[in-house]
Amino acid sequence: MVSVHSAVSVIMAKRDGGELSDEQIDWVVDGFTRGEVADEQMSALAMAILVRGMNRREIARWTGAMIESGQRMSFADLPRPTVDKHSTGGVGDKITLPLAPLVAACGAAVPQLSGRGLGHTGGTLDKLESIPGWRADVPVPDMRRILADPAIGAVICAAGADLAPADKRLYALRDVTGTVESIPLIASSIMSKKIAEGTAALVLDVKVGAGAFMKTLDAARELATAMVELGTDAGLRTVALLTAMDTPLGRTAGNALEVAETVEVLSGAGPADVVELTLALAREMLAQAGIGDVDPADALADGRAMDHWKAMVRAQGGDPDAALPVAAHTEIVTAARSGTLTRLDAMGVGLAAWRLGAGRARQGDPVQFGAGVEMHAKPGEPVVAGQPLLTLHTDTPEAFPAALDALRDAYAIDAAAVPGSAVPDRGAPVSIVLDRIAP
Ligand code: URA
Repeated sequence: MVSVHSAVSVIMAKRDGGELSDEQIDWVVDGFTRGEVADEQMSALAMAILVRGMNRREIARWTGAMIESGQRMSFADLPRPTVDKHSTGGVGDKITLPLAPLVAACGAAVPQLSGRGLGHTGGTLDKLESIPGWRADVPVPDMRRILADPAIGAVICAAGADLAPADKRLYALRDVTGTVESIPLIASSIMSKKIAEGTAALVLDVKVGAGAFMKTLDAARELATAMVELGTDAGLRTVALLTAMDTPLGRTAGNALEVAETVEVLSGAGPADVVELTLALAREMLAQAGIGDVDPADALADGRAMDHWKAMVRAQGGDPDAALPVAAHTEIVTAARSGTLTRLDAMGVGLAAWRLGAGRARQGDPVQFGAGVEMHAKPGEPVVAGQPLLTLHTDTPEAFPAALDALRDAYAIDAAAVPGSAVPDRGAPVSIVLDRIAP
């Protein structure tokens, strides 16, 4: 159909640095959803947006048009306040797993619509699917029942096909056209799904560093600000934490390995960085939900968060007490010298875990639940020559050489560095939370 807003004229307007009108944005997103704007035209527009950017009005309108491409959910009638968290993605980022039941244990309802992993960062659903019996598909009436149940209160499940379908198609195009790394497109992609999901409040975990989309604090601040503005303008109480992603979170990267680490955290132990970030995000979520006087550390220590985890897993068909899948083969990387581990790159570890089979190359590929990387030392910790540094897990041992190759330059041991709380590469005390962006 020929229209005054032909796709070519919209592409050319943005290509030449113009602002898109509300009508142009509505028309192009609607046309793309209905198949009248071709994939190659939307790809060209995405590239023009990546190069030229969009202003606040354009981003808000684009986000609204993506929401309108599907159904909007609402949990406003639940007896408890709803709050969700979204992370922009990092290596070893299993935080959603302990966080959702922890926040539910403190009195909020947590509707988490999550995705599967693509590339070097793992997907929350892939991790949970390593629990025998657990199912990612939860019909909306069951979601409501689980969220309203004070003994559960959290659901982590796959987004239905009608949640911002324009984003789903556009994200697939961006993935293969070099147009993922656009702040307006990332912000609108994430926020269209979160606003359509119907949560009343949202805490964003925007990752910064070599293992994240956003490599610098300035870029992460710009993305966080765009998302906080979008949420606030849509009536969603939204704040963002900027958190470090130079080195993996915790001591595991890989599906079942990360579930096992989650259970450690919920048992009151687990790696300090995972506990720190889980509690920091929980405090923000509870404050956004209006129950900021509850201390989530108590619910972690006294087992209430663990009870909610088990109930949440069971509500989705899983057996929280079943043995987790274990990979058939392991290979150990040892320290070549004694000293302090000064660097362990998230990107190298993520790539190694992916090559071992923990991630997928194409949408729809299977993942190996037991595959991944276990880290026996983290930056700042002392190591002794010959001690295990990393254990690689896979069912496909032919993957070891490629995984080892990804790790070859991914870590450094300094014989002279002093172990302790300072990571020499970052030059500052280790704190996961780097900044906070509020409306
Ligand atoms: N996650 C999303 O959902 N969308 C993006 O564009 C990037 C990360």
